[in-house]
Amino acid sequence: MASIPPDLIEKIQSAGSVVVLTGSGVSAESGVPTFRDAQTGLWERYDPQELATPEAFERNPRLVWEWYSWRRELVGKAKPNPGHLALAELERMSGLFTLITQNVDGLHRAAGNENVIELHGNIRRSKCSEEGIVVEEPEESEDIPPRCPHCGASLRPDVVWFGEALPYEAFEAAVDAARNCDLFFSIGTSSLVYPAASLPYEALDSGAVLVEINPDETPLSARADFVLRGTAGEILPELVEALQEQ
Ligand code: APR
Repeated sequence: MASIPPDLIEKIQSAGSVVVLTGSGVSAESGVPTFRDAQTGLWERYDPQELATPEAFERNPRLVWEWYSWRRELVGKAKPNPGHLALAELERMSGLFTLITQNVDGLHRAAGNENVIELHGNIRRSKCSEEGIVVEEPEESEDIPPRCPHCGASLRPDVVWFGEALPYEAFEAAVDAARNCDLFFSIGTSSLVYPAASLPYEALDSGAVLVEINPDETPLSARADFVLRGTAGEILPELVEALQEQ
């Protein structure tokens, strides 16, 4: 059992504002495959980086929609794991708390976190490919992809594809939270995909304490004040338990 440094417990208790940035590693213990994981079955022969682009959708909207339907089904079966649940508990125990996620699976809200910023959208929602209007539950239809109920254009998943900009308001809110926090956690992310990967540096530049939780080293590790090596599902429940014992 990795022990949580007492210094870190003190920092969490005295922090006025806590920000957590999560990546796909946090959902690994819920069985949600990352983009980089091997694809299975029917989808084995496709490269995800070539399906998750606006160009792929323009070329073959049916193929891209069906691939997302398959991923949506996988995500639909996934349940929050002990790491997600511990983060929800951490929010309840904290004053100002913001959870910024690159994940599109919605598992942080399902676990009970309330102040969540989704930087890369949410796979459970769709939007109009022309006007961007969000459609929560597309009606049953024979069209694949289904059509926008307002203008008839194709619907697409409401996620950020490679080469697309992040939702402006979500990213602005994330930068603002990072610049104004005392403690910043980077959890289960390779810290390679920008602009999300810039957020811990914004926090460091504003004087925050930086904590990384990841079984592997990342480009951020050398800058972290505390590095907890292990999985989110192991370390986060221990952290919450250590806080509750105080
Ligand atoms: N607990 C914590 N971290 C883990 C675990 C775990 N159980 N399992 C793996 N990790 C770590 C890996 O060591 C790695 O550093 O999670 C990280 C996953 O990295 P990526 O696959 O690059 O995921 P992420 O950082 O979320 O990628 C960012 O890129 O694919 C696009 O848009 C997609 O949102 C995604 C973005």
